[in-house]
Amino acid sequence: MDQLSDIDQWRRYAHEQRARGRRVGLVPTMGALHEGHGSLVRAAHEHGDVVLATIFVNPRQFHNDRDLASYPRTPDADFAAAERFGVDCLIAPSLVAMWPNYPEPTATTVSVRGISDHLEGVGRPGHFDGVASVVAKLFAITGPCRAYFGEKDFQQLGVIRAMVRDLALDVEVVGCPIIRDPDGLALSSRNVQLTESGRARATALSRALALVAAQPARASEHRARLLESLHSSSLEPIYAEVVDPLTLVPSSDTNSGVARALLACTVDGVRLIDNGPVQLVAQGE
Ligand code: PAF
Repeated sequence: MDQLSDIDQWRRYAHEQRARGRRVGLVPTMGALHEGHGSLVRAAHEHGDVVLATIFVNPRQFHNDRDLASYPRTPDADFAAAERFGVDCLIAPSLVAMWPNYPEPTATTVSVRGISDHLEGVGRPGHFDGVASVVAKLFAITGPCRAYFGEKDFQQLGVIRAMVRDLALDVEVVGCPIIRDPDGLALSSRNVQLTESGRARATALSRALALVAAQPARASEHRARLLESLHSSSLEPIYAEVVDPLTLVPSSDTNSGVARALLACTVDGVRLIDNGPVQLVAQGE
């Protein structure tokens, strides 16, 4: 596995791969690698890409210093995991390389309005500006590529797709299915912050999603069932929403077809999100 930290070398590496006729597959991460990241690397290999994975804990997407400080950082384990997953080149740029003036704000921020403003955007103001800005920079350095993101961060995926479309970036965004532990908990770098009992309580999110996935209903009925299911597990949701899977606009009872249920809860002080498909039956159908 090649290893880089310098931005110019990374740009050249990607360029040379394309010059040899290979397609570059980019897997952006913030480290603390787990099997969810492994599935993104596998998807890139299945497309025949040479896989570049980045590790950068982007401070601009954390809305408080405590959350940034407590974010897991496991560089040695990440190196071993990246090798095991079959990453071809692991890139870990420094903070000063990515944001030379940090903590001063950059003159340029990428802001994807509308889709960024609700759900995760409410409790974490500026979060998606931070995500869009860093991902735009990763894309700018890498150049034309396919980029792989997990559906677990469903809103993030929507924000990135909208950014790529609006800025006509030469990037094909590939969304990959959520990877779950056998008990249903969606894999996340933040799961290591849960206590044993918190981890058990956190499985209520996937149970609530499985419940609504099993039975077509109106959007308002799905919302009510999600809330009831979380409350019965003594979890207080930050939100439990049913949205259009492309625009993430909340579905109404006149909508039919496939929608997406999105949940966020705090367990042990850890913010957990999860989502899954639901079938909508329009009122009167
Ligand atoms: O999903 C993540 O790990 C991060 O939000 C990303 C896309 C790597 C940007 O920092």
